[in-house]
Amino acid sequence: MIDLKKAPQLRCNYGRTLEISTLKKWIENQTQLITIYGLSGIGKTALTLKLIEEIKTEFDYIIYRSLDNIPQLIDIKDDFKQFFFTSQSNLLSDIIDYLRSYRCLIILDDLENIFKIGELSGQYLTEYKNYGKFFKQIATLSHQSCLILISWELPPDLEILEQDHQYTQILSLQGLGEDAKEILRHKDLKNQEMWNQLINLYQGHPSWLNIITSTILELFDGDVELFLEDQENNIYLGDLEPIIESHLQRLSASEKKLINWLASQNERVNIAQKPTNSELSKSEFLQAIKSLMRRGLVDKVPIDKRSHFKIHPIFKQYINHSNIGF
Ligand SMILES: Nc1ncnc2c1ncn2[C@@H]1O[C@H](COP(=O)(O)OP(=O)(O)OP(=O)(O)O)[C@@H](O)[C@H]1O
Ligand SMILES: [Mg+2]
Repeated sequence: MIDLKKAPQLRCNYGRTLEISTLKKWIENQTQLITIYGLSGIGKTALTLKLIEEIKTEFDYIIYRSLDNIPQLIDIKDDFKQFFFTSQSNLLSDIIDYLRSYRCLIILDDLENIFKIGELSGQYLTEYKNYGKFFKQIATLSHQSCLILISWELPPDLEILEQDHQYTQILSLQGLGEDAKEILRHKDLKNQEMWNQLINLYQGHPSWLNIITSTILELFDGDVELFLEDQENNIYLGDLEPIIESHLQRLSASEKKLINWLASQNERVNIAQKPTNSELSKSEFLQAIKSLMRRGLVDKVPIDKRSHFKIHPIFKQYINHSNIGF
């Protein structure tokens, strides 16, 4: 029995073979809690729906729900119970009983809606802390089911669970890489020899590439070379600006200070460096770095066996060139 009536219709026809096989392996190995996190439009929901298509016969029940309208946990649980009950008329007292008696796959999407804005990433809204307890139960109690969480931000408590419990996994979803060429091919863009450059500039992000491709078709008649002229240090954002803003406006005060500083640096910074002219204490600095990583805005890159940190180039462009004075 499958309930995907609340799931959007999305295309996920390119790439993602590695991610799908990783997720399948985790599910085969009885993983009970999987968190998929990454920027908006990177393809989290599309990937999960593709996964469901491939594994649906392995489950007795599959249900997808979004937290878009910020439901209380009790309402979500009632909704699940209703689904299980109408499907097999066997009323059990708690969701976990269903997860024990049957092999169920539950997907909770758009988790960022229950996190605070203006604080470090993944802090549950005050009335929604019980979600954290529910996730912990699912990760730690014994049953035969799997919960997939999809979010813009990785909550710290789930990161801790992953370190302590073998049945918990986290996937940080990145761009499509080479496979993003299919998007450009599908839209009949010109100058194939420059596609790699275009994909690198926009990090293989499917939704951003769809948007930018429309601009290239509309204003440059599909000529990628013309579009990329002088873009080396000044990446065109256009319709991406509101999307970038929706991420930046969620940051805490310390994250804003740090990301401004990171955007002003030419090089990747190592952890021993710290902004000298900011009022951040060492611990605020470290917390803010972790938090930005949990939002996918800062990446860790090893150089000479030492961790360095790099701000996402599209965000760097926005911060350095937008006139809203971020
Ligand atoms: N592998 C893919 N191949 C082709 N198109 C894709 C792929 N992945 C995502 N897309 C397209 O990119 C867009 C964004 O995907 P999706 O809605 O899954 O992102 P998301 O990460 O769930 O974003 P949000 O966090 O805002 O919900 C969709 O239009 C989708 O069809
Ligand atoms: Mg989504």
